[in-house]
Amino acid sequence: MDIQQACQAFEQLLLEQQARIEGMDGTKTDFATKAQVTIGIVDGDGIGPIITSQATRVLEKLLAPQIQSGAVKISMIQGLTIENRLAKNKPIPDDVMAALLQCDVILKGPTTTPHGGALESANVAMRRALDLYANCRPVCVPEAGIDWMFFRENTEGEYVLGSRGIELPGMAVDFKVTTDLGTRRIARAAFEYAKNNGKTHVSIVTKANILKKTDGKFTAICHQVAQDYPGITVEDYYIDIMTADLLKPGLREKFQVILLPNLYGDILTDEAAQIQGGVGTAGSANIGDRYAMFEAIHGSAPRMIQRGMGEYADPRSILTAAVLLLRHICRAQEARRLEEAMASCPLTVRSDGSAATCKEYADALLTLL
Ligand code: IPM
Ligand code: MG
Repeated sequence: MDIQQACQAFEQLLLEQQARIEGMDGTKTDFATKAQVTIGIVDGDGIGPIITSQATRVLEKLLAPQIQSGAVKISMIQGLTIENRLAKNKPIPDDVMAALLQCDVILKGPTTTPHGGALESANVAMRRALDLYANCRPVCVPEAGIDWMFFRENTEGEYVLGSRGIELPGMAVDFKVTTDLGTRRIARAAFEYAKNNGKTHVSIVTKANILKKTDGKFTAICHQVAQDYPGITVEDYYIDIMTADLLKPGLREKFQVILLPNLYGDILTDEAAQIQGGVGTAGSANIGDRYAMFEAIHGSAPRMIQRGMGEYADPRSILTAAVLLLRHICRAQEARRLEEAMASCPLTVRSDGSAATCKEYADALLTLL
């Protein structure tokens, strides 16, 4: 590619991004009044099928009356495997995408993302295709006074063109995209969450001192949205110092809602999950206006599978995602039952095999539901 071709490619990307903004719809699914809610279950790769099958048993028990009456339908969706995605050369094969579009909410096991190559991450493709713009990740350590909710922008930033960078001889360029509408809707989601959950403080995390256009816009729009929420205080943080401050007892307890662009959110939430006890304990909600998808925050753990330790995968990550799913479809009581059962379950799961297996943990949990 030469510079002229690169400019043409860039023009094409800008036009596509403009079309994406124009397609943002904003019509919301109302789960409180919806006659039937379809939950799609996608098991994924590596430890995905192991943890997802246990989460499915749990959901089937919790929602048994609703499944019986037809208010909830569970739909098992096959084929989102790395083998099938490579064979079809698509991050989400067409038949899988058609099945996903038939659902309202999806519980998804981790999928393998190849390094390099042309195949895009299934995760990123799904977030974009279903326009799941708010990535909500709770991290709680009650004994340390930590109760954080991260609102990570999930469809823009460094990710939206992550597979569409431009390579010239001796040089590679990637792009970061921040839009007014994209920022406004994630900021609105974060402040609404704060308002509806008694939170009084929102931290906006960027690197606006360096990325002046994109992060500058993100900060400015978040502050505009904040004006509609006079009871909530707002503070700007740079991602580097926030990464340090999350580790600082005496300071970190003040963080409540943390609002940030895509890549910073990706990185910071793994750090936060580690503070909670590891990425195996953390769940994640990917929320759009029409669809929502719930998952563990970690990957498919191929090394655990290689070591033959897959059965010791910790299901608490995806079970936490199931709690978020239940709350999202207005099943707060069932969400609470699952949360309480997890809090009182005497078993733990450890990836070194020194505690219960994933299935033993789920068996114990089912007796508590
Ligand atoms: C996450 C994951 C994904 C991401 C990967 C699997 C594409 O790390 O959900 O945090 O980078 O967003
Ligand atoms: Mg991540």
